[in-house]
Amino acid sequence: MRTFPIFLGLDGSRVVVVGGGEQAAQKVRLLLKTPARIDVINETLCDELSELAKCGRIGWRRVFAPGTLDGCRLVYAAADAETNARVAHAANERNIPINVVDDPALCTFQMPAIVDRAPVVVAIGTEGTAPVLARQIRAHLESWLPPRLGPLAALAGALRKHVNGRLRADARSRRRFWELFFSGKTRALMLDGNEAGARAEAESLLSDGEFNAPSRGRVSLVGAGPGTADLMTLRALRRLQEADVIVHDRLIDPSVLDCARRDARRIDVGKTPGQVCIAQAGINEILIAEAKAGNDVVRLKGGDPMIFGRIGEEMAALDAAGISYDIVPGVTSATACAAEANIALTHRDEVRSVVFLTGHSTAGVTAYDWTALARPGTVFALYMAVSAAPRIQASLLAVGVPADTPVAIVEKGCSSASRTVHATLAGLERSIHDNKISNPALLFVRYAMKGADQVSSRESFESSVRRSIESERKNAAMPFSAGMLA
Ligand SMILES: C[S@@+](CC[C@H](N)C(=O)[O-])C[C@H]1O[C@@H](n2cnc3c(N)ncnc32)[C@H](O)[C@@H]1O
Repeated sequence: MRTFPIFLGLDGSRVVVVGGGEQAAQKVRLLLKTPARIDVINETLCDELSELAKCGRIGWRRVFAPGTLDGCRLVYAAADAETNARVAHAANERNIPINVVDDPALCTFQMPAIVDRAPVVVAIGTEGTAPVLARQIRAHLESWLPPRLGPLAALAGALRKHVNGRLRADARSRRRFWELFFSGKTRALMLDGNEAGARAEAESLLSDGEFNAPSRGRVSLVGAGPGTADLMTLRALRRLQEADVIVHDRLIDPSVLDCARRDARRIDVGKTPGQVCIAQAGINEILIAEAKAGNDVVRLKGGDPMIFGRIGEEMAALDAAGISYDIVPGVTSATACAAEANIALTHRDEVRSVVFLTGHSTAGVTAYDWTALARPGTVFALYMAVSAAPRIQASLLAVGVPADTPVAIVEKGCSSASRTVHATLAGLERSIHDNKISNPALLFVRYAMKGADQVSSRESFESSVRRSIESERKNAAMPFSAGMLA
């Protein structure tokens, strides 16, 4: 961060705008939303500024002199280049922050793109690198933030002292009150325009006494998705933001953990290969102890917690301890990696079932009933299967899956280090070895039906080729399609 974002109080302050045209008027329009006294300096004023000067909403001086900046809090220069340079010089001499329109080199502060739901204000800055991007982000936030968020925040401000007085002794109850205030009925009423109703609801929320009761802990078993935070669900995001304690796996992306409250405690129970790790029983104990201490606990797992996430053991332990929990599903790595590698997991004519298998089963992969599993028309999505790949390959070949069946390996999917390698079933082991594939990786084996409608197969091949070219991916899904026709 080369520039430091702050919100500057302008009560009782004077702000000077040098310039009298449209650009000066833009700055004045924004400043009029603040309590600052505004002085505009220019020989002439555009109609809008002239009107404002006439009705006394801004002051007007015709001639700029360095001394006119004395005692002011901020300066904007929106005049000709020579005047702007003089204004910047005078402001710098007096250590007054200055913004010069269209001249970043002369600026000591930049104007962010602003989303205004005062008193909620969002300021977006790109340190002058990408103003268009800042505007796009603003447009996105404008559509996302309800128009009446401001009055809701204002009501919170009006009630804050009262709430703090009532719930002074219990910080957790205060937080719970505000979480309910901003997510429950009060919010709904205010956003619907019913200000009186919202105020009454907030009062009854406060007086029902719930916040003085001892806190009850709870556990959420949450799927973080397979990579960066944008693959997480909105519910997972909300749970993360509410959590007091986050018990997480090693592979959770830092961008996901960044979504948690800053004061939330994080417990890394991840299994680093070759190092001492916390056993499952130890993780269960942590969840129970933290919940019994009254905390909101999030057990954060990669992908979907229901898939190869040992969630069943955690549910059983929580049930036995009488701790309530909920489960927030996530995007599993199989679907995410398939999407990344342009692999359709099903196809109306060719693939009718998807089998999720782990290469890390307690009995070993050779114990699977491969004859029953390996039916034409099946895609295998193989988790934790890198080291078991030679045995999986031998098992599938042994039950008659053709040697040229297409295989794809997605390593570190959904991350900047992601790569996809294509091979055939016969070449799987060699491909993993030659490409030095490491964990986490997802293996796909596409055992398509043969003799199905050749026309639709050909169509899917052609559309796959088109997609490959369009997506500019080096490793698009062509081998799958080529294999399908073999
Ligand atoms: C213990 S399992 C957990 C699976 C997780 N619950 C899910 O739904 O994705 C871990 C395995 O998931 C797969 N995996 C998880 N994240 C992955 C990623 N980003 N890219 C490729 N494979 C991944 C790998 O096979 C890894 O060994």
